[in-house]
Amino acid sequence: MTCCKCQGVETWFNQKFVERELKKYRKKGPGKPTRILLEAIQATAGVKGSSLLDIGSGDGAIQSELFKSGLSHATGVEGSSAYLAAAKKEAERSGYLDEINFIQGDFVEMEKEIPAADIVTLDKVICCYPDMQTLVGLSSERAGKIYGVIYPVDTWWTKLGARILTFHF
Ligand SMILES: C[S@@+](CC[C@H](N)C(=O)[O-])C[C@H]1O[C@@H](n2cnc3c(N)ncnc32)[C@H](O)[C@@H]1O
Repeated sequence: MTCCKCQGVETWFNQKFVERELKKYRKKGPGKPTRILLEAIQATAGVKGSSLLDIGSGDGAIQSELFKSGLSHATGVEGSSAYLAAAKKEAERSGYLDEINFIQGDFVEMEKEIPAADIVTLDKVICCYPDMQTLVGLSSERAGKIYGVIYPVDTWWTKLGARILTFHF
C-alpha cells in the first residue's frame, strides 16, 4: 500500500473491525453522524445526477445511501484495504458496483490522480489524519457543489486520531 500517512489504518481498521462495522450498517443503516451528513446533503436537492468523491469511504455507506437518492457516479478513496474490500462487497450487494471507482491509498498523496466531483464527503476522516490542513485544503478544491465533513468532537475517534498522529511522528 502506497499510503505512508495512512499506515496505521491497516491496524486500526482491520478485517475484524470492518466486518463488525459492515454488519452493523446492514442491520441498522448508517450511524447518527453519517445520517446527519446524509440528511444535510439530501436537503440541498443536489444529489440526483451528481457525482460523489467520498474520501475515507469506509464500508461505503455514504455511497450506497446517495445512490438511492439518484447519484450518478462515485469515487471512493480509502486507506484501509479491509474497508475497501467491504465497500466493494456492499456495492455489489446493493447493485452499484459498476458506478463506483474504488481507489486504495492516501488521498493527499494521490490527489492529482483523483477526479473532482459535485459532492465531496469526509465522514469522520479529518480527525484521524495527521495533516488535517492539507487534507481539507486539497479535498475542498475537488468539490463542485457540496463539501460535507463530519468532525466528531471528544469521541473515541478523535482519541484514536491522536494515537495515530503520535504513532507517525
Ligand atoms: C473513522 S474511519 C471512518 C470511515 C467512514 N467514513 C465511516 O464514517 O464509517 C476513517 C477512515 O478514513 C480513512 N482515511 C483517513 N485519512 C485518509 C486519507 N488521507 N486518504 C484515504 N483514506 C483516509 C481511514 O483509512 C479510515 O478508514
